[in-house]
Amino acid sequence: MERTFSMIKPEAVLGCVAGKIITRIEESGLKIIAQKMLRLSKEQAACFYAAHKDKAFFEELIENITAGPVIVQVLAGENAIEEYRRLMGAANPAAAEENTLRRLYGISIEKNAVHGSDCPETAAREISFFFNQLEIIK
Ligand code: CMP
Repeated sequence: MERTFSMIKPEAVLGCVAGKIITRIEESGLKIIAQKMLRLSKEQAACFYAAHKDKAFFEELIENITAGPVIVQVLAGENAIEEYRRLMGAANPAAAEENTLRRLYGISIEKNAVHGSDCPETAAREISFFFNQLEIIK
């Protein structure tokens, strides 16, 4: 069993499609073993996305991710990282495959509805950024 981190972004929560996204995650076979809703401060968002701090889109990324509440989750399953990335689709909704979360619910590359970890090291960092051990179902 592998774990990955998932974030349902403000545009999806404010657009009232978080429930549909959660249903798709459940139907995919991935298990939601932790979940909560919160709103990130600018400082927290900059820390979470520190890997992108030199990118041209960094400021816009921080604006978008702090524009409203997010739902953060820990997902578990076989090859959970790759499986969730497949379910999300490409970062740009216009380029994402049919029926993927970003194709269905993303608005643009900047507002692409969901985030998921890209490798085991990132998953471990992102999970511990938001959750302590007591909050994750064993
Ligand atoms: P996410 O998976 O949350 O990781 C970083 C985010 O930066 C990404 O999804 C996009 O929403 C956002 N972003 C904005 N512009 C770009 C870009 N040109 N390339 C990649 N990601 C971008």
